[in-house]
Amino acid sequence: MQVALREIGNCVIRRCDLSDLIPAMEINLKTLPEHYSDYFYESLLAELPEAFLVAEIDKKLVGYIMCKIEYGFSNFKKLGFVKKGHVVSIAVLPEHRKKGIGEGLVQEAIAGVKLKKSDELYLEVRCSNNEAVRLYEKIGFVTKQRLKAYYRDGEDAYLMAIEFAY
Ligand SMILES: CC(C)(COP(=O)(O)OP(=O)(O)OC[C@H]1O[C@@H](n2cnc3c(N)ncnc32)[C@H](O)[C@@H]1OP(=O)(O)O)[C@@H](O)C(=O)NCCC(=O)NCCS
Repeated sequence: MQVALREIGNCVIRRCDLSDLIPAMEINLKTLPEHYSDYFYESLLAELPEAFLVAEIDKKLVGYIMCKIEYGFSNFKKLGFVKKGHVVSIAVLPEHRKKGIGEGLVQEAIAGVKLKKSDELYLEVRCSNNEAVRLYEKIGFVTKQRLKAYYRDGEDAYLMAIEFAY
């Protein structure tokens, strides 16, 4: 059993357990067009449990966020390679949105990647996804690039990133 990282009303945010992967995959299938293999979920959990988090209400999963760590060029013009957290996927079930759960998941994922001493956290978001863009801006992410035809259906993405100081 994982400890609560944050409570938002009756919703608990905590690290993901192996037994949460199938419910997290179900939320992904219901809410996003981008899907991943079981193996990919398992490998993200094994590699970065600090930032693979779930939101739970009454023992039922209502949201998740999963991230990975990469090494590469900075989104903030720092020289050399940096350690970057990357939000692979985040979703909250429609009936539980607009209660601060999405923000709680992102804030706790930031804390998780900071435990790994990441210099930044970045993500891609559909340019039409106003709710998500607003949420990330509120948290302090800035739009760094527009990625042409990033998604399979041809839609562009914004690459948004936030930098950390230690
Ligand atoms: C993007 C997503 C994760 C946001 O989740 P969420 O739980 O609704 O996020 P939050 O509740 O923290 O914030 C969303 C809005 O609710 C508002 N809000 C937060 N707490 C609130 C409360 N107690 N009462 C009313 N509104 C509240 C926030 O201010 C924010 O408003 P805004 O859109 O005007 O900025 C969710 O919309 C989702 O799962 N979308 C589908 C999947 C997706 O697009 N994922 C992102 C891919 S990059």
